[in-house]
Amino acid sequence: MNIQESANSLEKIVALCKRRGFVYQSAEIYGGLNGVYDFGHLGSLIKSNLRQTWIESLQNPYGCVVMFEGALLGPEAVWKASGHVDHFSDPMVDCLNCKRRFRADDPDIAKGCPACGKKDSWTPVRQFNMMFKTEVGAAADGSSIAYLRPETAQSIFINFKNVLSTTRVKIPFGIAQIGKAFRNEITPKQFLFRMREFEQMEMEWFCKGEMALEYFEFWCAHRLNFYRMIGINMNNIRQRPHEKDELAHYSTCCTDVEYKFPFGWKEMEGIAHRGAFDLTQHSTHSGKDLSVFDEETKTSYIPTVVECSVGTDRTFLMVLFDAYDEDVVEGETRVVLRLAPRIAPIKAAILPLTKKQTEAAMCLYADIKKLGYQIEFDESGSIGKRYRRQDEIGTPVCFTYDFDSDNDGSVTARDRDTTKQERIGIDQVPAYIKKMLEK
Ligand code: GAP
Repeated sequence: MNIQESANSLEKIVALCKRRGFVYQSAEIYGGLNGVYDFGHLGSLIKSNLRQTWIESLQNPYGCVVMFEGALLGPEAVWKASGHVDHFSDPMVDCLNCKRRFRADDPDIAKGCPACGKKDSWTPVRQFNMMFKTEVGAAADGSSIAYLRPETAQSIFINFKNVLSTTRVKIPFGIAQIGKAFRNEITPKQFLFRMREFEQMEMEWFCKGEMALEYFEFWCAHRLNFYRMIGINMNNIRQRPHEKDELAHYSTCCTDVEYKFPFGWKEMEGIAHRGAFDLTQHSTHSGKDLSVFDEETKTSYIPTVVECSVGTDRTFLMVLFDAYDEDVVEGETRVVLRLAPRIAPIKAAILPLTKKQTEAAMCLYADIKKLGYQIEFDESGSIGKRYRRQDEIGTPVCFTYDFDSDNDGSVTARDRDTTKQERIGIDQVPAYIKKMLEK
């Protein structure tokens, strides 16, 4: 795929998201806020399906994974200890002509300023810290400085002892968190790929140092299940171990899960052997003992951490790219989102063929809805148009209540992917949906 095709396909995804209300530019009526997005009904349903699947994907044979939800604001001391105040920066240059700002490592700037086209007209490279800084309370002194978290992980580390002493977990175990993170990216781009406010799903696995490499390898292999569960074509997924010079000084090894976007192979998830760095740093800076006692050896030690960290919004974008398709049905091009049923925002649509069947179809809708499935009822427009709409939002099956339904107690089940239709008994509809979701 060339640059133009890649831009076209991104444009199509953005247009679909807007047309069907998956994602909106944040504060759009005020001109928008760059790198910040809002999610509509269908978008938030997909995100909640992704979160649920991620939690399920953490099941493992070695230890518990407990959930956690930390604060978004953290005092400066946390970010000093973690290294973010001093090191969480990107190299930045300004165009001397139009004053726009870019990442110095952006390959596009070698050709000239991406905004005004001026060549070789840059300020020297400076480091730009990506954290959002603020002050808490009325007194504006050094002690009131706080930051919006640039990753969810640190709140897990600083609560390690709280979790250990209030839950029944034993090493090895994991603490998982889904929540917002904020980074003042110099150039947010590719829609949900690089945002300034985004969501992460992070799991920190605490274990003994001598077992960490084994667990690192386990999690590298195990994490691929998540991508299978959300229906990604595994030919578009690869793992890339980091070169030695890419590793943080405290990290022994790190592997990225990458997805083949139209704009290239890109990082989706980082799986990192972080050593005992984080707990040691917080222990030293806070003066609190974060070690655990080993009953076997009767010694205390600081656990080692293996981290699995993936962005929810970036996963959302990947899912849309992977599912987006255009084909020809009855001589017309249709857009179809071939989403895995468990990720699809709407599991099924109930469609009366004409207004005459509305009442009976509505009864079926109410019965299915009671079972807790996210389904839709749609009675307006031609049946073809209604199918197209459901195809575009990724609804795996439509049940059409037609002229024969009253007599034969059946509806037509129309499959999104093949458009094939089959008659099934009305009493079989719940089992049909259940089976589809178990696949
Ligand atoms: N605690 C480790 C950590 O935060 P990271 O590689 O900086 O590692 C983890 O981030 C994941 O978060 C990335 O693989 C990506 O999926 C997501 N992510 C990071 N920055 C992002 C951004 N600006 N916009 C959207 N997602 C982002």
